Amino acid sequence: MTSAMGVDVGGSGIKGAVVDLATGELLTDRLKIPTPSPSTPRAVAAAVADLVTRADWQGPLGCTVPGVVQAGVVRTAANIAPEWVGADGVGLLSQATGRAVALLNDADAAGIAEMRFGVGRGRGGVVILLTFGTGIGSAVFVDGRLVPNTELGHLQMWGGSAERRASAGAKTGRSLSWKKWTRRVDAYLRYVENLLWPDLLVVGGGVSRDHARWLPLLHTRAPIVPAELRNNAGIVGAAVVAADAAAQPEG
Ligand code: BGC
Repeated sequence: MTSAMGVDVGGSGIKGAVVDLATGELLTDRLKIPTPSPSTPRAVAAAVADLVTRADWQGPLGCTVPGVVQAGVVRTAANIAPEWVGADGVGLLSQATGRAVALLNDADAAGIAEMRFGVGRGRGGVVILLTFGTGIGSAVFVDGRLVPNTELGHLQMWGGSAERRASAGAKTGRSLSWKKWTRRVDAYLRYVENLLWPDLLVVGGGVSRDHARWLPLLHTRAPIVPAELRNNAGIVGAAVVAADAAAQPEG
């Protein structure tokens, strides 16, 4: 398999492209449509099908969702419609698109892409990627192998979910300055580090573009670096997993 299509479902937009699996580069333009509101499983599946048709893609499809995914079933939905909880995501998406579909958590997909093509290439030990967006997503790798569905954004901090205090959404929602927001992120990362002792921390999500404004203000024990694939990481990771699933013998 030399290429696969990846679709990244986020709180505000659904993005997709066909990915070159040897290089991690996009082979087509990145297509983007707004996430339907409400973002119910049916509405999102129809939107994903629309992207697949526009890309004229016939092969395997990988898709992300901002929630826990076990055996194709979505288990949590902090930042999308609650109807996703318990939904057979793979069933719905395969039916809507007519393609073989692999479904996984959005941060896990971003992490897989960074480990294969980005800043995590060849890194052993414990690597934690955290995406700062509407929520906080996490992907934990041990010697390059993903521990799926970690939900480190939901660690309890200051009496609530950490993502409510320290996500990029919290920064915008409360109009926090970089300095004030970074203090929250610093407290959060200290907590993560004290529990898991990573060898490398990687930050992704839209705010990683502005890393020069806030990474230097952090006091982490482990080295902390911005993700390299930025906006495309979810798409690329989803495509990688789709191709891997397609290469597995049936059964
Ligand atoms: C969800 C995670 C997701 C993260 C980033 C959190 O609210 O629980 O599954 O990875 O947001 O989208």
